[in-house]
Amino acid sequence: MHHFTERSERIPVNVIRELFKLMADPDIISLGGGNPAKESFPLEEVRQITDYLLCVHGADILQYGVTPGYLPLRQAYLEHLARPKGVQAEVANTIIFTGSTQGISLTLELFCNEGDTVLVENPTFLGTLNVMYKMGLRVVPVETDAQGICIDDLEEKVRRERPRLLYTIPTFQNPTGRTIPAERRQRIAELAAKYDFIVLEDDPYGDVRLAGEPVPPIKSFDTAGNVVMMNSFSKIISPGLRVGVGVAEADIAAKLEALKQGADTHTALLPQAICAEFLDRGLLPAHLQRIAAIYRERLDAMLAAMAKHFPADCRYTVPEGGLFLWVELAGDIDATRLLERAVAEEKVAFVPGAPFCVHAEDGRSCMRLNFSNSGPKQITTAIERLGRLLQSETK
Ligand SMILES: Cc1ncc(COP(=O)(O)O)c(C=O)c1O
Repeated sequence: MHHFTERSERIPVNVIRELFKLMADPDIISLGGGNPAKESFPLEEVRQITDYLLCVHGADILQYGVTPGYLPLRQAYLEHLARPKGVQAEVANTIIFTGSTQGISLTLELFCNEGDTVLVENPTFLGTLNVMYKMGLRVVPVETDAQGICIDDLEEKVRRERPRLLYTIPTFQNPTGRTIPAERRQRIAELAAKYDFIVLEDDPYGDVRLAGEPVPPIKSFDTAGNVVMMNSFSKIISPGLRVGVGVAEADIAAKLEALKQGADTHTALLPQAICAEFLDRGLLPAHLQRIAAIYRERLDAMLAAMAKHFPADCRYTVPEGGLFLWVELAGDIDATRLLERAVAEEKVAFVPGAPFCVHAEDGRSCMRLNFSNSGPKQITTAIERLGRLLQSETK
């Protein structure tokens, strides 16, 4: 018997992870994961850039780097991604992370002691929930509607709970695909200043827009310096490169750097240089259009099949970007139980809503569907199968 820390035991055993182990069967179509489409990766560009970097920089690019990140990447990120969105920041405000996952964990570590209260959207990204549980934080959900966080409920909970931090995914949220409009973003920044809490703005999907107009980040409304913004190259270049970026007040960035030093010294240099070169060559805009075309076709296939095959009383979000949509099933269907049937009888998988919710019952009859990781034909087949199962449940 091994003795594990209390901290490690706080991460809930994940029924879904267990179920997904059954999915080695290649006939199963998964709408469950969150992977970007393989077809969307800029393989040829990355090959050419890697070759170029190794030629130009030689062994230096294989050397240790500095903790806050590769300078050309921090500069390129500001020029191509942050400033065009109205974020006023300098290099000292940026820090490169090993995926935004690391930035999120270290920001929570920086601002929250065990037992502190944090607010999250209901529902929210389960990866971050698990980090919060591991740290022993008190996690309080804030109500959301079609436009994301409800400001009245946020203000009430801020007054009542005195949180250290609000964690939000304002654009094409995981799991719902919803986007918070600009006015609410401004109110969030104002409330953070008024009540002195940190906003951890997690925005890995903002540039994966398939329709509609961009919305400025909460960070662009941050006059008090309370917003820490996380971006990531995972959904716009490649998740396997493991490169994320944080933007924060210089004193916060310096503290994050100190925490990162002990975590991994620095993010791998070559992937950082690849991202910098990709941006500096001006490849991103056309690449984003290519990604959007792939996902548009997949999302349209999913929505068309849902309109045809899902029971009429199912409700679902129609996102303008990102990788996910959220379904609220009619009646009292337990989506976790439904997943067992879906895998066994129809060879299709999704993620049930419960683990995205602090109070599992809030997500009991919901499911998250991913539209990035299967082709349109597979998506149509999967939705047809799911629809058949749902019709049989509601009879
Ligand atoms: C909302 C959200 N935040 C963060 C991440 C982690 O991204 P990264 O690959 O940059 O660590 C994900 C990954 O799916 C996500 O959905």
